[in-house]
Amino acid sequence: MPIIDRIADFAGELTSIRRDFHEHPELGMEEVRTSGIVARLLTEWGVEVHTGIGKTGVVGVLKGKGGGRTIGLRADMDALPIDERSNLPFASKTPGVMHACGHDAHTTMLLGAARYLAETRDFAGTAVFIFQPAEEGLGGARAMLADDLFTRFPCDEIYGMHNNPNGAPGHVGVKPGQAMAGADFFDIHVRAFGSHAAMPQASKDPIVIAASLVAQLQTIVSRNIKPTEPIVLSVTQIHAGSAYNVIPSVCTISGTMRYFDPETADLVRQRIRELCAGIASAYNVEIEFDNREIFDVLVNDAALSDVMLEAAGEIVGSENATVTETVKMGSEDFSDMLRAVPGAYCTVGHEGTIPLHNDAFYLDESILPVGASIYAKLIERRATA
Ligand code: NI
Repeated sequence: MPIIDRIADFAGELTSIRRDFHEHPELGMEEVRTSGIVARLLTEWGVEVHTGIGKTGVVGVLKGKGGGRTIGLRADMDALPIDERSNLPFASKTPGVMHACGHDAHTTMLLGAARYLAETRDFAGTAVFIFQPAEEGLGGARAMLADDLFTRFPCDEIYGMHNNPNGAPGHVGVKPGQAMAGADFFDIHVRAFGSHAAMPQASKDPIVIAASLVAQLQTIVSRNIKPTEPIVLSVTQIHAGSAYNVIPSVCTISGTMRYFDPETADLVRQRIRELCAGIASAYNVEIEFDNREIFDVLVNDAALSDVMLEAAGEIVGSENATVTETVKMGSEDFSDMLRAVPGAYCTVGHEGTIPLHNDAFYLDESILPVGASIYAKLIERRATA
């Protein structure tokens, strides 16, 4: 595929940068080493660098030949709390932390575009490179926005991308309009009464109560929501107890809700609250529902979705850059930036079959120059006079 020649020439260096990030992953808001390398490389290449935006976020500003529009490109830098089992020679050296979502590659691709654009400057306006911390549910985009990201660096359009091991290699997809789900994270604390396990009559067993509540929660999506409405309510954690012979006094249920329609999301939150109150009353215990709205629904601008596909088509071939028809129930906090500035977010398929967030996740590094080329092409096509 015709990746930009000059980027192909330093593809080996991009691979080294990515492997170094992969070996040294950092969790959200702790990307000190990663953002330090980003800032150092951008400075070396002649890009104006601003650090500490959204704690560990970095913004690079590169002016072209003068006049023109300002285009923002964004990559995420954080890793996940996963023990890596990939057996790669450059696997994580930090126990319990792994780049299992390929954000090491996203950061590298944006660095590749920055280097090429700094060397060539074949555009009129300004490129803004946004290196974001904490995409994995820890509010990195919101932290950068709270630090006045787009007031300090006003952009006319913004673009982001994600690698996709489940997509055809070299395929770029954009879903115009609503593309990825909004998401809440929640904790439900069942505060009951502990006792000796041999004397359950002296307790109000929070495990039995929580089990009943988990079963009731399944009725919300299946019985209260229109079957045609895409919504997910998943309980993903239950924590209670510390001994075989003790009925604990607290059980905590945690999980996530994914949605597209805000009114439906409100209805789900309301039903969770009602079920918690009902079960609390039935068992005469206290149940607390703590809900956080983490991700907005990601909405791609329809016209700029086409713009992104056209730029990507120049790199991967127009037959491989196509509109995605279906929405994803996964979430992405670039949605918060897209609420502030119009833009689009694409996926780039690669030669891997192990899913994102798996402890053996594998990223085909041949997409590094592809992603860098697409980003560079967006600036050359859009940061025009
Ligand atoms: Ni990701």
